[in-house]
Amino acid sequence: MDKFKITGGQRLEGRISISGAKNSALPCMAAALLTPENVTLHNLPYVRDIITMRRLLEDLGCTALMPELRTLNINASSVEIFEAPYELVKTMRASVLALGPLLARFGEARVSLPGGCAIGQRPIDLHLTGFEKLGAVVSIESGDVVARAKRLQGAEIDFNVVTVTGTENLMMAAALADGETILNNAAREPEIVDLAELLNKMGARIEGAGRSCIRIQGVKQLGGAEHTIIPDRIEAGTFIAAAAITGGALEIVNCNPQHIHSTIGKFRDAGVKIEQPNAFSLIVKAADHTKPADVTTLVHPGFPTDMQAQYMALMTIAEGTSVITETIFENRFMHAAELLRMGAKIKLNGRQAVVEGTEKLMGARLQASDLRASASLVLAGLAAQGETIIDRVYHIDRGYEKIEEKLRAVGAQIERFRD
Ligand code: UD1
Repeated sequence: MDKFKITGGQRLEGRISISGAKNSALPCMAAALLTPENVTLHNLPYVRDIITMRRLLEDLGCTALMPELRTLNINASSVEIFEAPYELVKTMRASVLALGPLLARFGEARVSLPGGCAIGQRPIDLHLTGFEKLGAVVSIESGDVVARAKRLQGAEIDFNVVTVTGTENLMMAAALADGETILNNAAREPEIVDLAELLNKMGARIEGAGRSCIRIQGVKQLGGAEHTIIPDRIEAGTFIAAAAITGGALEIVNCNPQHIHSTIGKFRDAGVKIEQPNAFSLIVKAADHTKPADVTTLVHPGFPTDMQAQYMALMTIAEGTSVITETIFENRFMHAAELLRMGAKIKLNGRQAVVEGTEKLMGARLQASDLRASASLVLAGLAAQGETIIDRVYHIDRGYEKIEEKLRAVGAQIERFRD
């Protein structure tokens, strides 16, 4: 298994380019199942989850050719299998995004029910009740979700919890349903807007993506399209944290600052200087003295749960005490125990973490537990005195493109090795 060895204490300086958003690319790839025509996606990040989704599409019978790096040509004209097996779903929960498109286009879908994961139970009940509202018959058979419908019928769906992939799954299914679907309390993340843009290019009639009420007029069929995936806002936020925690200065390019208002705001509260010279880049300079600033994770446009672990890493070296409240997932403080091993002072109390800043973190041997937790350990390792070894970095490879190469290019001492 791959590990990272980090020698901390290097100040990062230089320019880092942001890759395409994994969480936008995954639903956009699944959307290609909705049409027999070609869907071409550009700016895909080169990360493990994208490779897994490509494999899933190929297993279903799609061709998915890569004419050049970061571009994928997907054709779903000869799909004959409507099933996402356990082996794939267990490595990537986003495999459930195949449900909506398969059900809408072929009237049948079988996807292994994802279990809980490191950050919580993560049920998909809202996806399933949504499909039922659209007229599907949904059952659980041998651990799989099985959904069937002759043709989906538009309906009004009220989400009682805001769900990102749930909104995406229902939006894709409703695009091919008969009549109008209204999604109330829909997720508003930029990835929802990106997916809606792709679907509309394919001929869908979706209005309101990015707001909490989305209206979809179903169409008989969808066609091919070409689309460029938006930049990864969480990767951009992670590099803001990297500059901040190493006392560094980074120019972050090919990002979309509009998507990370709340992240920028919170790092500014902590004293980080962030300028936006144009619509695609940020200039980040660490604070002379990092200030403690409380944060609560919220649905978009609030502070993202996917940035909570990285922000906590910064707060461990702030000059004072901060309170971090996680409202989206019930068990998303796995990184705290590892940060404690580096000398951080963190007290957990249910969904709250009280972080008392300490002058210096110390290098240690650490275990990555999930994607964003791993990123926070890398950040802590960059700031720590001495050597940090991080085990199980396959978690980070799921969603960060060559993070060690990007960090090395701006002065970090980080190596990948296997023993
Ligand atoms: C997506 C992101 C993930 C991010 C999360 C929250 C992708 C591929 N992943 O995950 O990186 O951390 O949004 O921003 O885009 N819930 C239910 N029932 C459901 C669905 C969700 O109770 O049917 C709950 C979840 O347990 C969680 C909350 O709703 O507490 C939000 O989850 P959701 O937005 O669905 O997360 P994902 O779409 O899985």
